[in-house]
Amino acid sequence: MSHIRPGFSSRLGFILAAAGSAVGVGNIWGFPTQAAQNGGGAFLLVYLVMVVVLAYPMLIAELTIGRLSQKNPVASLRALGETRLMQRTGVVIGVAGITVLSLILSFYAILSGWLLSFMLAPITQALGWSQLTHWLENFSLSRNLIMMAVFMLLTMHVVYRGVSAGIERWSKRLMPLLFVLLIAMAGYILTQPGAMQGLKLYLIPDFSQVLQPSLLVSAMGQAFFSLSIGVCALMLYGSYLSPQENLPRTAAMVAGLDTSVAFLAGLLILPAMFVAQANGVTIYQADGSLQSSDTLVFTVLPAMFNSMGQSGVLLAVGFFALMLIAALTSSISMLEAPVNTLNEETGCSRHKAVWLIGSLVSMVSALVIYHFDTLFGLVVKATTVYAQPLLALLFGVMLTWVLRQNRLLKALQSGSENIEHTWFWRIWPSYVKFVCPLLILLVFFYQ
Ligand code: PFF
Repeated sequence: MSHIRPGFSSRLGFILAAAGSAVGVGNIWGFPTQAAQNGGGAFLLVYLVMVVVLAYPMLIAELTIGRLSQKNPVASLRALGETRLMQRTGVVIGVAGITVLSLILSFYAILSGWLLSFMLAPITQALGWSQLTHWLENFSLSRNLIMMAVFMLLTMHVVYRGVSAGIERWSKRLMPLLFVLLIAMAGYILTQPGAMQGLKLYLIPDFSQVLQPSLLVSAMGQAFFSLSIGVCALMLYGSYLSPQENLPRTAAMVAGLDTSVAFLAGLLILPAMFVAQANGVTIYQADGSLQSSDTLVFTVLPAMFNSMGQSGVLLAVGFFALMLIAALTSSISMLEAPVNTLNEETGCSRHKAVWLIGSLVSMVSALVIYHFDTLFGLVVKATTVYAQPLLALLFGVMLTWVLRQNRLLKALQSGSENIEHTWFWRIWPSYVKFVCPLLILLVFFYQ
């Protein structure tokens, strides 16, 4: 590739963009919902362990693959092998990763369209436009299609602008805003009656639940999804990262930011559930299970906001705006990977690639919307529960089994010259080579 490749213009830009990819609906909706379903504190504890023992080491692996070749994911994986067979294997894994990523974007855009609707609904309601409010708040083919398309256009617009003018600029604007909004909202909710009950559930683990198989499986899946691992998005961002950056440290910052946002979202949502309960909203069914668990944020929270009068309207708009921001910084990373790959591998312009892939993903999204009951859950499960851990495992295998050790060391030495003499170098390669695949397979067969 002879052209000069664009990249992130600063370290902060990279960290915010990568954290932007990681922080998304998975943190603000997925994590608190899973925590509420799986014993609160127990889930939080196991999740933190999963991030440290599995997700973080795999994140370093994925970023390393990208930074090593400074190319798109397919080329990066191809470059790891020395024989033809291994290079072809790399290409197949790369194409699989990009395909799964595009499928994730296809359902993510539908969810994000709902977020957009729920952000607009309190405004249209305050304006007295009841028909429009009704349309926005209720599940319908037209609402799902139109809002998905609007969200896809937003994503395409940012990706179209390129890496530093689009992705980096928007991540730098949106991520700090997200933090501020989240802290302000959690702070407000914690002062409301009922909040302490939720806080206790969230922070005090029930140790009898910690080793439950279903909890372990959910926590692993959540950690992979939340850190965007196994689908080439962060591999591509790694390829935009400057050679002067220390990879383990940068990865730690990204993982730390992502986990902090999930933790903060838990501080908001779990107390909010009990505030809603104190306001007369039913959150638990008679058998003790969570009411409408998957759509928790679309049922319980709006009900709570509604019961709060004027400030509820502001909170509702703020909350869904927050989710939308998080979703957008994730979706741009999902679109950027296939766009960059098409651009570099075929020479097709960025502009064309954005339109081509954006339209293709929107068409798949539309198909999922038309056959929602059969396809939605299937696509979510196939991509996030099965494909993500499996592909992450294959990335790890390519990096530690296929790539020569001296090249791996060189890759890590860039940005951290003395890494050879650190504990990290003594442990991490064998850990990713043997322990991570074993752990993933173990949990995988469990499920
Ligand atoms: N990590 C994002 C979230 O938690 O919502 C989802 C995601 C983004 C998954 C990017 C995969 C990806 F490549």
